Amino acid sequence: MNIDLSGKRALVTGGNSGIGAAIVNALSDAGAKVAINYVSHPEAAEAMTQAIWDKGREAITIEGDISNDNQVEAMFKRMDECWGGIDILINNAGIDGAEAAGWKMKAKDFQEVIHINLLGNYYCARQALRRMTAQKSGVVLSTSSVHEMIAWTGHSAYTASKAAVGMLSKTLAQEAAPYNVRVLSLAPGAIKTPINKNVWDNKKGLDDLLEKIPLGRIGEPEEIARMAVVLVSDVASYVTGRTIYVDGGMTDYPDFAHGG
Ligand code: BGC
Repeated sequence: MNIDLSGKRALVTGGNSGIGAAIVNALSDAGAKVAINYVSHPEAAEAMTQAIWDKGREAITIEGDISNDNQVEAMFKRMDECWGGIDILINNAGIDGAEAAGWKMKAKDFQEVIHINLLGNYYCARQALRRMTAQKSGVVLSTSSVHEMIAWTGHSAYTASKAAVGMLSKTLAQEAAPYNVRVLSLAPGAIKTPINKNVWDNKKGLDDLLEKIPLGRIGEPEEIARMAVVLVSDVASYVTGRTIYVDGGMTDYPDFAHGG
């Protein structure tokens, strides 16, 4: 099976680091033109863009805070100006947020996570869907998390935001399906990126994490990126309104490998 995304115009939010960066490179390798959105570290986005041009493919960078609706609108206008629209949105930017028990968390910390992970996701999805439903084609793929399903002490805003992203995608999928537009989510488990470096970077944290993963290892960003390419391609032409878990079995409740 050959996946060819030539001619497709993709936007990856939070595309200059972690899972987003791996998805940018994988989409580009599959032939897509890729816009790399970033909110900080422009130099990382520029270096990625240069590397893509060096390989003979097209990429642009677009600065923009996804939690700001005006900036999101400007980002999609830039897509229109540069490439005449969009075919693939990877709705990826997000944060884990501050760690605290729900009742001890500052409201502003809770709000920040919801603003970025949920409202930001929505602002981007609706700009993309306006364009995709009009052209009667396109795919919106959101980066969710195993914490769409698994509770996580200290991270109530994050888990709530990811559960909400899952249901937002399902509902948007139902609304967009008559227009030949697919909307779905990809839920990574523990993947080695800067977002969770504080956990995998020390032995105690890593040992604890590995116990939670049946495949016995932390995932690589490329393992998420490969699935993202499949899901936005025609290989997955009949898949919509679902969250696909790519988590080394984390949601298979490894504690039940014994007892019960
Ligand atoms: C979080 C990571 C965490 C992983 C598994 C992800 O959604 O962003 O920080 O390591 O879930 O718990």
